[in-house]
Amino acid sequence: MVKFIPINRLYNDIGEQYLDLVSTLYKNADTHFEDHYTTECETLLKKICGRKHAFLTTSGTASINIMLLAADINPGDNVVTTSYSCPATVMPIKLMGANPIFYDINRYGCQDVANITHTAKAILVTGLYGDSCDFDKIDHPMVLNDSAQCLGGLYKNKSSVSYGDMSILSFATNKNCPVFGTYGAVLTDNDALADKIWLMRRNGYRNRDVGNSIQHIGINAQPHEDKALQLYCSLQYLEKWQLRRKQIANFYKDELKKLDITIRPSPAYSETNNHKFCIFVNDKTNLRDKMLDNGVECQLHYTYNFSQVPILSKQLDSNFIFTEKFKQHAISLPSSPWLTDTEAETVVQTLKKCIADADKGVTIDG
Ligand SMILES: Cc1ncc(COP(=O)(O)O)c(C=O)c1O
Repeated sequence: MVKFIPINRLYNDIGEQYLDLVSTLYKNADTHFEDHYTTECETLLKKICGRKHAFLTTSGTASINIMLLAADINPGDNVVTTSYSCPATVMPIKLMGANPIFYDINRYGCQDVANITHTAKAILVTGLYGDSCDFDKIDHPMVLNDSAQCLGGLYKNKSSVSYGDMSILSFATNKNCPVFGTYGAVLTDNDALADKIWLMRRNGYRNRDVGNSIQHIGINAQPHEDKALQLYCSLQYLEKWQLRRKQIANFYKDELKKLDITIRPSPAYSETNNHKFCIFVNDKTNLRDKMLDNGVECQLHYTYNFSQVPILSKQLDSNFIFTEKFKQHAISLPSSPWLTDTEAETVVQTLKKCIADADKGVTIDG
């Protein structure tokens, strides 16, 4: 079976270093179990993402919650967001009692920011498949960047995680720099927001001496050293994994052209980190099932149009053309950095066998 994410191979890469360091961490817990690896990771992330501040948290979702809290989003506030993403983008907005105002994506699968006219308290933008939205087209005083999938991706030659008043990362098992389970980070260049984020990831208070002067609502998203250590080990591999992702994407591009299969286009304004390799076919569920029967695991990213989900939306009469297109036609091939050349070849050969004539030449526009 060609797995979408062969997680045992993450262990093959980072396992030895992790086990060695974690045993030292626990054996010397009274002196070592402070925030050594948390600080190491935060320093590396600031450098990689070109940000002044970075704070590890327990997940990408918790990080979005913290961004919304730090942006002073209150129940009833409007927050512009995308109609097409991982549900983690929109759930924190709902959880705060705020109103998500959904907008369509562009032809690249990232949030379309060109036509946002709604007066909302904040705009929560999302980059998918390793690309980002077109940040220069945004005109809003509070931009929150859900860059969970964007580590290593560039917008106009700068890390796309460096855009927005705040941005977040996820280190979930399916991300470019994974841990087992998940982990996250909030990043900003703004000192006042940084102070709030620090407090809000630990239930809003600095220490036990604050008495009645608790000033912020927060959650418990405090990082732990053992998970930070996993991330620290993964960060050592990031460059190597990124190179491998690029090789696999280039191989697929060359091979799939010959098969007349439509590949998700990447925008000129951004450089993808190859987080997902996505193609367009007529019947994606059928192809997913056939590929699985033939030993290749693909995934459907994604299958929802948030504006049409009653529990999330007050815009059930909206008509989002690209969201519907991606929802219907977009499917991701295995493209993890652990895919061997033989497995990549198997994916192409299996695709050749499983693809129907109607799946070829599917158009994104029009
Ligand atoms: C776009 C997007 N936002 C947010 C998240 C949430 O991250 P996590 O799974 O770490 O909570 C994810 C990851 O699943 C994601 O892909």
